[in-house]
Amino acid sequence: MVSVSKWNLIQSLCSVLAVVAVPTVFASPDERQISLFISKCVQCHAQPHTGAPQVGVPEDWESVIDQGEDATLVNVVHGIRGMPPLGYCSACDEKDLRVLTRFAAGFPDPEEGKN
Ligand code: HEC
Repeated sequence: MVSVSKWNLIQSLCSVLAVVAVPTVFASPDERQISLFISKCVQCHAQPHTGAPQVGVPEDWESVIDQGEDATLVNVVHGIRGMPPLGYCSACDEKDLRVLTRFAAGFPDPEEGKN
């Protein structure tokens, strides 16, 4: 009996970890950046009716990735159509926005490569 409930616990831990682990394939925001992401960006980027490209839906970000990271970052800072300037994140500095843009869109190779 005890082993059954342990197994249930392990199963639920695994499903929590799976959800948390998926986005870290693309970039590695720190805890502060993740909480900014959750309190700001996710309001739209996990709400399909807003028209924002959705986190975890790679097709939504294809054209964004095609235009390149620097052009995208300019749009994030200045806003574009339904995307408000800074994504409403007045507490985000440039580095935060860069990390969160990578994280949301799935730009490859966060800190590596050319600068
Ligand atoms: C009020 C809703 C809203 C919030 C908050 C928001 N976004 Fe957006 N975002 C949008 C919408 C809508 C678009 C699509 C704009 C378009 O292309 O028409 C978008 C587009 C983008 C794009 C693609 C820009 C491009 O060049 O096409 C990125 C990257 C992005 N958002 C990142 C973020 C990040 C990072 C945050 C948090 C700091 C954030 N967004 C917060 C609504 C939002």
